Amino acid sequence: MSADRGSRIEALVRPQIRALQAYHVPPAEDLIKLDAMENPFPWPGDLAPVWAECLRGVALNRYPSPHPPELISALARQAGVPPGCELLLGNGSDELIQLIDLCLARPGAKVLLPTPTFSMYSLIARVAGLDVVEVPLRADFSLDLPAMLTAIEQQQPALIYLACPNNPTARLFDVADLRAVIEAAPGLVVVDEAYFPFAGRSVLPWLLEFEHLLVLRTLSKVGLAGLRLGYLVGHAVWLHEFDKARLPYNISTLTQVSARFALEHAGRLAQQAEQLRAQRRWLADALRAVPQIEVFPSDTNFMLVRLPAGRAPAVHEELLRAGILVKSVHGSHPLLADSLRVTVGTPIENQALVNALGTLI
Ligand SMILES: Cc1ncc(COP(=O)(O)O)c(C=O)c1O
Repeated sequence: MSADRGSRIEALVRPQIRALQAYHVPPAEDLIKLDAMENPFPWPGDLAPVWAECLRGVALNRYPSPHPPELISALARQAGVPPGCELLLGNGSDELIQLIDLCLARPGAKVLLPTPTFSMYSLIARVAGLDVVEVPLRADFSLDLPAMLTAIEQQQPALIYLACPNNPTARLFDVADLRAVIEAAPGLVVVDEAYFPFAGRSVLPWLLEFEHLLVLRTLSKVGLAGLRLGYLVGHAVWLHEFDKARLPYNISTLTQVSARFALEHAGRLAQQAEQLRAQRRWLADALRAVPQIEVFPSDTNFMLVRLPAGRAPAVHEELLRAGILVKSVHGSHPLLADSLRVTVGTPIENQALVNALGTLI
């Protein structure tokens, strides 16, 4: 890079952005892909042609509807959104996190994160210009409530993200701890329920009690990660503000039509989620039988496994060589030392993972 270009970048690009690393998505072609908490099953075979038929009617020459009423009411009905609350659609829940952060990023505003947690909270907050305050979870991955309450008192965060269940720890937080954090928060609290289909517990009814609470959901984990559709549920007063920062046509027509089709066949996706919950039990038991591996309980479609000290980077590489992609979270947080995050796959994929780890450890 020429000196001139380098100094222009320094002069023009905000230091917070220059200090960041772009979110890394590893190549996955021809690999057993167990790194990103996707549903491993495609559309059930009999639905694929009906879905393709729906797409044939789409008017791609027109902009998409900015607020598709039928899709919004279908999502609201399916989720059981409480009366008086509304939905805002995002291009994945990532986009909604970005909208919230952009709107709350007044100078000096802080976002509080119990960590380790979903890495995009901190990345997006920094891009938006929010200061990030982290409070470590306890060793059993529960919220450290006294530490959270002290941080709330001292830092007065504008925003708190609570992923419940949490990624990458795969656990739900205790209900009483969640409530205590929401009650103490001076700003907005977002409970991210991306893994609701595998946990079955929700704080949606609490929206009737707390006007400063928002609930985030996504269709990504039930089998539609490629669609990019997330939604934020909460009181209209908040959503109307965030809507001003939303780009007008953020949800493509193909996504809108496909999502409505998927919701009409939601039972089929629910069956797949049920299969994955059964596979989660199988995988956890099979991995626990591998000597020296610690397997943490999971309320999601993935689990955290801890390997013997110092082995995680090499085992991650060896698994790749064996054709299996998982996520190494070693080095990203002290609580995640020596750990891999593995997504629950199909029975064949899970068996392959267990065999490979059994050989490697
Ligand atoms: C807790 C949590 N929230 C949100 C997301 C992102 O979901 P989406 O695909 O809707 O952007 C993820 C993805 O892994 C996640 O783990």
